[in-house]
Amino acid sequence: MKIIRKIEEQQKCSLNMKCRDKKISLIPTMGFLHKGHLSLIDTAKELSEKIVVSIFVNPTQFGEGEDYEKYPRDEKRDLDILADKKVDIVFIPIVKEMYPEGFQTFCQVNQLTKKYCGKSRPGHFKGVTTVVLKLFNIIQPDIAVFGKKDYQQYIIIKRMTEDLNLPINIIASPIVREKNGLAMSSRNKYLNHEQRKEATVLYESLIYASNLIKQGKYGAGFLRKEMTNLIKSKNNTRIDYIDFVNPETLKDVQKIEEPTRILMAVRVGNTKLIDNMEVKP
Ligand code: PAF
Repeated sequence: MKIIRKIEEQQKCSLNMKCRDKKISLIPTMGFLHKGHLSLIDTAKELSEKIVVSIFVNPTQFGEGEDYEKYPRDEKRDLDILADKKVDIVFIPIVKEMYPEGFQTFCQVNQLTKKYCGKSRPGHFKGVTTVVLKLFNIIQPDIAVFGKKDYQQYIIIKRMTEDLNLPINIIASPIVREKNGLAMSSRNKYLNHEQRKEATVLYESLIYASNLIKQGKYGAGFLRKEMTNLIKSKNNTRIDYIDFVNPETLKDVQKIEEPTRILMAVRVGNTKLIDNMEVKP
């Protein structure tokens, strides 16, 4: 496994792989890897010969007062995991090289970024699309794999890729959950023992809504109210949003008449957790 920290070296290495007709998959990460990331690698391995994992805690996607400084980092552990997983390249760029003095060019997807997580984190998705576009330009992947846990992020990146005619196939990999249903996330590390138990209410409320839909309850307002009551019954929870959306356009849906995605964000203590699920009438 090759570890590359310099942009130019990664570009040369990617060019070399492309000249040898090797299909490259990229899994962009912010490190502190968990089983969710490993399943992205498994998905990528089925689709291409060369696997590049990037590790970069991207400062431009964190707002003021957010957890950029304290975001969990453990490079040694990540590298051990990736070596075990037999990935080909780990790209770990340096902040100063990604954003040198004078940097002022950003990539912004306009509409899809305004709602849901974009509302409480203005500028977040602009940072995400900018760094992902930079990684695409540096690594030149044929395929890039993202987790469905960050569903809005996945749709935004798909939009950017289409709008800018990037020759990259964007693949979404299913959410990986703990045994108790909690969606895997590096930020779960912030939860204490009690909060970890309370955090399972996100998944429970999604399952609850999906069961109500199976019983013929299709109104988004009713379903939101039922989910809200369940979540509020747990200590230390504060709902940021629960929305029912078209899975492609992310436009609000009032009635579940076709496949719909439930998107939700809930604070458990000080930690904002997100989850989502597809439901069908
Ligand atoms: O999902 C993440 O971990 C990040 O938003 C990403 C896509 C690696 C960009 O920094």
